Amino acid sequence: MFPRNAWYVACYPSEVQDKPLGRRICNEKMVFYRDRDGKVRALEDFCPHRGAPLSLGFVRDGNLVCGYHGLEMGCDGKTVSMPEQRVRGFPCIRSFAVEERYGFVWVWPGEQALADPAKIEHLEWAVNPQWAYGGGLYHINCEYRLMIDNLMDLTHETYVHATSIGQKEIDESPVNTRVEGDCVITERHMENIIAPPFWQGAMRANDLDPSQPVDRWQICRFTPPSHVMIEVGVALAGNGGYHADPKFKASSVVVDFITPETDTSHWYFWGMARNFKADDPEVTEQIRKGQGAVFAEDREMLERQQANILEYPQRKLLMLNIDAGGVQSRRIIDRILAREKSEA
Ligand code: FES
Ligand SMILES: [Fe+2]
Repeated sequence: MFPRNAWYVACYPSEVQDKPLGRRICNEKMVFYRDRDGKVRALEDFCPHRGAPLSLGFVRDGNLVCGYHGLEMGCDGKTVSMPEQRVRGFPCIRSFAVEERYGFVWVWPGEQALADPAKIEHLEWAVNPQWAYGGGLYHINCEYRLMIDNLMDLTHETYVHATSIGQKEIDESPVNTRVEGDCVITERHMENIIAPPFWQGAMRANDLDPSQPVDRWQICRFTPPSHVMIEVGVALAGNGGYHADPKFKASSVVVDFITPETDTSHWYFWGMARNFKADDPEVTEQIRKGQGAVFAEDREMLERQQANILEYPQRKLLMLNIDAGGVQSRRIIDRILAREKSEA
């Protein structure tokens, strides 16, 4: 169902501070905690003694202590000690490769020996001070590929997000999809339109007159295993649209890291990176709130869609040209899955 030998976002660093965090990722129950040096570690969330979740325990001197009978676990998955016991023969539990980078904690659910941190995609907006990022996390009861479909076909904005980013010009404008290696790009450009409410707010925040007509763009990029970055924005009409000088623009990157939890649920790390008013935390908060409301609308649609599909598994679904972005992304995932299977 999902590639395993890949880096996925596991959590925000703020989620693993003093207490361990239990989270299922790619069907693996994991526990995240910080060792003595503050480095994030991940182990199977299963105590070798009686199977209690280690995430219910605590961290002592950089080791994870089981909250049931006090077994102390090392970051390599070997038991260090247990009150009144000799632990040498205790079975090992799995450990996972973890990396904290770009404001996220990444985990590699597959074979640890293959986990090369250099394979984490470079995120310019996360390291460049001219950019600001705000975001959140939703748990969504649908398989991760339905979310990829959703983000690789933004015609749904007209209907699902009618009061914020939707407008009729979206589904009246043709979409263009192409594949470059393992990357799928699907884009749409709209000219000389009035910006919808969300973008009027962004224009105001960037000192542009929101009543003026704009050119608007959406450029969605899928990269494996399940990342979708979407360049979105508006520019005062007639100044070159996407290529307009920054002074005419309000633009940003919608950041979507989609981490499978089970076969029918995922963790959705959503956010927005922008390079205007980057030093203004109020703008970050305003955008974050707006975006949180927009993605809650997707969550409802996707969870109900998943429930329908589970109830009627024999029904065949259609594939129209607006679905090309999702279809091509699924092809790339299938190719990776086939490769992993043949290597295993
Ligand atoms: S179950 Fe963990 S110490 Fe007993
Ligand atoms: Fe949406």
